[in-house]
Amino acid sequence: MKIKKAVIPAAGCGTRMLPATKSVPKEMLPVTDKPIIQYNLEEIAAAGIEDILIVTNRGKSAIEDYFDRIPELEDTLSRQGKIRELSLVREASQLARVHYVRQQEARGLGHAVWCARSFVGDEPFAVLLGDDLMRSQTPVTAQLVAVAEDYGTSVLGVQRVPPEDIARYCSLRVSPVRKGLYDVSALVEKPKPEQVYSLFAILGRYVLTPGIFPILESLPPGHGGEIQLTDAINVLCGRERVLALDFKGRRYDTGSLSGYLEAQIDFALNHPLVGGWMRAYIKEKAETLMGGNGGANTLPG
Ligand code: G1P
Repeated sequence: MKIKKAVIPAAGCGTRMLPATKSVPKEMLPVTDKPIIQYNLEEIAAAGIEDILIVTNRGKSAIEDYFDRIPELEDTLSRQGKIRELSLVREASQLARVHYVRQQEARGLGHAVWCARSFVGDEPFAVLLGDDLMRSQTPVTAQLVAVAEDYGTSVLGVQRVPPEDIARYCSLRVSPVRKGLYDVSALVEKPKPEQVYSLFAILGRYVLTPGIFPILESLPPGHGGEIQLTDAINVLCGRERVLALDFKGRRYDTGSLSGYLEAQIDFALNHPLVGGWMRAYIKEKAETLMGGNGGANTLPG
């Protein structure tokens, strides 16, 4: 089994990041100098996947413009000899073949994935939730794809989350296959305390077989009155083998302000142009805070 396609559901409205997301899609907010969705595309490209479907809705045309070429801008940068900027601008439009489909009603993540059925056809495919930004040595999608291709099954990207947070995710009933790899026998979305199977939750990365589509087609609404992808996978694991990989990497929830700010700091610390400056700035700031003069409240002038 070879994974050649990926789907990014990008039709969410970004309520937790208002007012910034009032007119800018949350996927287009930058982390350092690139929009969040570009990191998703880079992660997909690093897994050898060349065709990507982005599921959008009204108000997301900035995403389509971003991955398009802008010949006028390229000409201007080229005439001005701005070679670095030119290659950055071109890079975004050359990462993969990007396709789009619109989710016309907000009916949940499962419905967004169902909108990808014609694009996906009868093949296994990766799904990346744009809010979940990853830093890892081996890109997380490549870790999942390797297991999926090895075992010929669906693979869910999971990590343990703190007990007080599990109700914000989903919970998986698992049994070990080998170190870091588990068989999945049941899942529940946004579990109540008595429904928690384990502290393993899916964190925005999936490889799914096309067996998910007939399930999604007739699935009743679940949590929040929406068609939940987790509910469909719960049915899928009764029909075929589904694995969970405890992937290696740090995940940031960029859909929340605190997760977004953590990502800004960590990505800036590792950015070739500003990493050194950021380290020095944080050190200076920490010394001020330790010194007890409450750096956050002091404004110059
Ligand atoms: C979604 C999924 C949930 C998953 C979470 C983190 O929830 O439905 O199963 O654990 O993403 O990737 P949401 O954040 O949209 O509420």
